[in-house]
Amino acid sequence: MKAINIITLVLICCVLNSCSHAQDKPAHDASAREKVLIVYLSRTNNTKAIAEIIHQQVGGDLVAIEMQKPYPADYKTTVAQVSNENESGFLPLLKTKIENINQYDVVFVGFPTWGMALPPPMKSFLRQYNFKGKTIVPFNTNAGYGIGSTFETVKSLCAESKILEGFSMKGGIEKDGVLLVIKDAKRKQAETKVTEWLQKIGIKRVKKNGKLRG
Ligand SMILES: Cc1cc2nc3c(=O)[nH]c(=O)nc-3n(C[C@H](O)[C@H](O)[C@H](O)COP(=O)(O)O)c2cc1C
Repeated sequence: MKAINIITLVLICCVLNSCSHAQDKPAHDASAREKVLIVYLSRTNNTKAIAEIIHQQVGGDLVAIEMQKPYPADYKTTVAQVSNENESGFLPLLKTKIENINQYDVVFVGFPTWGMALPPPMKSFLRQYNFKGKTIVPFNTNAGYGIGSTFETVKSLCAESKILEGFSMKGGIEKDGVLLVIKDAKRKQAETKVTEWLQKIGIKRVKKNGKLRG
């Protein structure tokens, strides 16, 4: 009887131990052969700054999304156009083309919050390619109102991908004329935050031929 109690106790300890390790495990164990793409949309270069920081720390290929017909320079006109596009579901044509998307295992996608939603060009990008089986890592900057529905939309447009926890931080406030703020001391802060986030989600590698190195 005593022996059975001891065995039961040992089994319970083993189960509890394995559960706590499962929680500690990062969300993504980057393997040595994974190839990384970092794609971003940026109008006033805040999201671009985050993309560059990720690129410095992770490596891979860095690509800016450009439209065939760029948005107007005027902020208010752009806000109105984006609002119409979001309402109608219009997807702008992209100038940017990705050579052989199949070569990538991990795709970072960066964008500002526009109208509390995912910007239409990023919707175009996510619809244009097949991300089935890939790991998608969203990142965002905004004027202080947060990610809105952006990360949820990424999830729904990449339903057959593994989506990791995203990164978001405050960027510019274009409506008040505040454009690029992720520079100088703020860029240093952003570097630290990105490092912590990458460690948390299990991606912390330096570049080697665009592939993650263990
Ligand atoms: C058309 C448009 C709509 C925006 N809508 C929002 C919004 O709904 N919420 C928010 O917090 N910021 C909003 N912003 C501000 C941007 O998200 C913020 O300035 C961001 O840092 C810009 O990134 P970028 O420098 O990479 O372009 C909007 C900016 C633009 C141009």
